[in-house]
Amino acid sequence: MNETIKTILSRRSIRAYKQEQIKDEELQAILEAGKFAPSAMNQQSWHFTVVQNKELLHRINEACRVVFEKSDDERFKERAKDENFSVFYNAPTFIIISGDEKAIAPKNDCSLALGNMFLAAESLGIGSCWIHAVNYIFNVEETKSLKSDLGIPEGYTPLCSGAFGYKAAESPLPAPRKEGIVNILK
Ligand SMILES: Cc1cc2nc3c(=O)[nH]c(=O)nc-3n(C[C@H](O)[C@H](O)[C@H](O)COP(=O)(O)O)c2cc1C
Repeated sequence: MNETIKTILSRRSIRAYKQEQIKDEELQAILEAGKFAPSAMNQQSWHFTVVQNKELLHRINEACRVVFEKSDDERFKERAKDENFSVFYNAPTFIIISGDEKAIAPKNDCSLALGNMFLAAESLGIGSCWIHAVNYIFNVEETKSLKSDLGIPEGYTPLCSGAFGYKAAESPLPAPRKEGIVNILK
């Protein structure tokens, strides 16, 4: 099995991080991998916001807490009550990918960019996890000012985001993968 496939198979969603920040050159390699994702008609419809500032990370987390409190799902409401709540598991680097609203397929483009970033991170020994709640903070009245405070450009919508950092423990074992989901027609 080649190294690329090994990396794909060994990447796991990581939910515990060391506080030590990842190196700048590692961050640059991760961003470069994102930029080299395929995109519809090569529109490269993404914008990357890298948050490493502790105060901004705190504001994003508290905004997610508001979203969780307002959720109809009891599990999210419970999580919001935890005083140690961290939507991104205390990861030191958080990347939000916003899509150009005028592009053909920004959701697809941005998701592929984040997927590339996760794999690049894994290849460098860095953990990552998709964090979904962030998508909702820009629609909630109390927290929508964050979009301009984070410098997300006009005409771009935050579509996906991921936590990045050194893993605090070994990667978990993979969840079993579904069987019977392939149909090969020759
Ligand atoms: C669209 C999407 C949203 C996700 N949202 C979250 C999330 O908010 N929090 C989280 O801990 N994991 C999140 N995940 C990670 C999944 O739970 C994880 O990929 C899945 O359980 C399979 O585990 P693996 O990534 O280790 O293979 C998300 C993944 C995707 C693709």
